[in-house]
Amino acid sequence: MGGYVLIENAPLGQRNTLRVDARARLLAEVREAAKLPELLDFPVVRGGPLLVLGEGSNLLFTGDFDGTVVAMANRGVHVEQEGGLTRIAVAAGERWDDFVRWTLGQGFAGLENLILIPGTVGAAPIQNIGAYGTEVAEFVESVEAWDTKERRVAVLDREACAFAYRDSVFKHEPGRYIVTAVRFALPRTRELRLDYAGIREELARMGVEKPAPFHVAEAVVHLRTRKLPDPAVIGNAGSFFKNPIVDAAVGEALKREHPALMAWPGTDGRWKLSAAWLIEAAGFKGQREGDAGISNRHALVLVNHGKASGPELWAFAQKVIAGVDAKFGVRLEPEPVVVGCG
Ligand code: EPU
Repeated sequence: MGGYVLIENAPLGQRNTLRVDARARLLAEVREAAKLPELLDFPVVRGGPLLVLGEGSNLLFTGDFDGTVVAMANRGVHVEQEGGLTRIAVAAGERWDDFVRWTLGQGFAGLENLILIPGTVGAAPIQNIGAYGTEVAEFVESVEAWDTKERRVAVLDREACAFAYRDSVFKHEPGRYIVTAVRFALPRTRELRLDYAGIREELARMGVEKPAPFHVAEAVVHLRTRKLPDPAVIGNAGSFFKNPIVDAAVGEALKREHPALMAWPGTDGRWKLSAAWLIEAAGFKGQREGDAGISNRHALVLVNHGKASGPELWAFAQKVIAGVDAKFGVRLEPEPVVVGCG
């Protein structure tokens, strides 16, 4: 039996960056995507719930998973040259940050603002990872997945992926698609995105006047390391809450009442509010209950100080949601996948 490894009653504590001690009825580590159909046909797997896991850097287990956890561990990067365009097909199990560094080393541009984001390449399109003014959607040409509903390989082009802010078709139909590879179209040069708060200042501090993509990447590394707690040191899943998007009238009223509120009017007439600002203003930054808390470095980040369980972390997150709602009338939504809550 090649291509995958099966573990019954598998501990997941080392497979999620919030370090929650959950278990899976069955864990399948898949090294060959072509073996997925065979694996999914096993009686113990068929019919039961499925959860696809990358590095577990964007999810919270609120309990054990009574089904099969599929961890994609396939590897490989293939460069396809067609005229002036370069396409790069990357296996889902590759580490995102390794891939970004590889593209920079090969002289490609585009992904520099997305350096140091934890997780796998296969997970990147699911939540349309974004940082410092760039979203991965811009560079995804297509996503290859096993469609568990139609029982065939599906290739979804960018449009079919229905990318939006931290969202995609893969979030709308959880369990349907198992991403096996992502195909990127990357330019050799692009107009660098330097407008996001902090980047220009950081480049100036580095003494860089004419930045190349790798300079931007280095600036982003500095910003992220300063702001975001390292999951290797303290359990966390990056931003735990999405920046809420509200009607302009709601945004304007809130801004009148709280002039310091960070808010950005969007192109669609709606406003994006800084969830971090709302959480900090509601008094939760650095707060904790037992080992569950909000980081004292960044208000968006839910942290596990040690032995917090999934339900404890989820309870604290809900307390934050209720506190922000009571103070501002805005309902925050979790950004990671919350497994096992209704
Ligand atoms: N702010 C506070 N308190 C804080 C932190 C931030 O009030 O503790 C306010 C500041 O006014 C700041 C503003 O919030 O100017 C925005 O903060 P930041 O630049 O850190 O961005 P963010 O909106 O909090 C988003 C992403 C991050 C991404 C950064 C940088 C979401 C949910 N989060 O955070 O993504 O790294 O921008 O682009 O969109 C992730 O998704 O896991 C993630 C870390």
